[in-house]
Amino acid sequence: MIERVAELSAALEARRAAASTVGLVPTLGALHDGHASLIERAAAECDLACVSIFVNPLQFTSAAEAAAYPSGLDADVVLAEKAGATVVFAPTLEEMYPQPPAVGVQIAGQLGATLEGVSRPGHLDGVATVVAKLFAMAGRCRAYFGEKDYQQLLVVRRLVADLSFPVTVVACPTVRSIDGVAESSRNRQLSSAERGAAPVLCRALRAGAAAVLAGGSEPGEVAGLMADIVAAEPLVELDYAVVVDAASLVVPERLVGELRLLVAARVGGTRLIDNVGVRVA
Ligand code: PAF
Repeated sequence: MIERVAELSAALEARRAAASTVGLVPTLGALHDGHASLIERAAAECDLACVSIFVNPLQFTSAAEAAAYPSGLDADVVLAEKAGATVVFAPTLEEMYPQPPAVGVQIAGQLGATLEGVSRPGHLDGVATVVAKLFAMAGRCRAYFGEKDYQQLLVVRRLVADLSFPVTVVACPTVRSIDGVAESSRNRQLSSAERGAAPVLCRALRAGAAAVLAGGSEPGEVAGLMADIVAAEPLVELDYAVVVDAASLVVPERLVGELRLLVAARVGGTRLIDNVGVRVA
């Protein structure tokens, strides 16, 4: 367990000097099976798996949202160790941000100006800023991110490419519970009725993906189909349902190539996101 940035950087550098490879799994804590799958993969592919646990205030749209975020460091450490982590880096707010950052990462263009960039202004900039800090602290590594936060994954890939971090980004598939709900720390905030309603996101995505694969639909029709499925669930309020080009996040004219279907919705007071990929030859 490491709390200090200097200690983390020195420990990982020492391991690299001894020819060990480092796997980094950045998290906000409240770890679940999805995180466990990232840590297991990092531990399998690297000599050392390091999990960072930090509730990054820059990526929440209000202090209340950050305060409501679930936490439980003791349970997180148990899960991380069981999944194969060697190091847990859990810095304090003062350690990560000794002063409010005057220079952060800002995402330009379509990548930051669509979907989560519209619904949660500043969120992706806050993610990119803290991930840039973690990459600078960790040094050369493989970094593991879940596809559940698909736009975040694209942002992190651009961050590495644009700022030349010595990091290989590894995308890992979304882990789902038996009823299709994507694992998320936010699921803990759902009442049992809300949890019962949550599978509608996955149902909408699967119906949308089937329509794309069946052919003959326009992007707007597929989006409408997904929106109608979500609208039929009274406890769920849709934010967006779209089908976009998987690399650019632009709505394509025709449904061909690598596509991504994404939905975001409020389930009671909790905002959930989910997505699936489809390839049309
Ligand atoms: O996906 C998350 O848990 C967070 O956005 C991340 C990447 C750890 C940055 O705080």
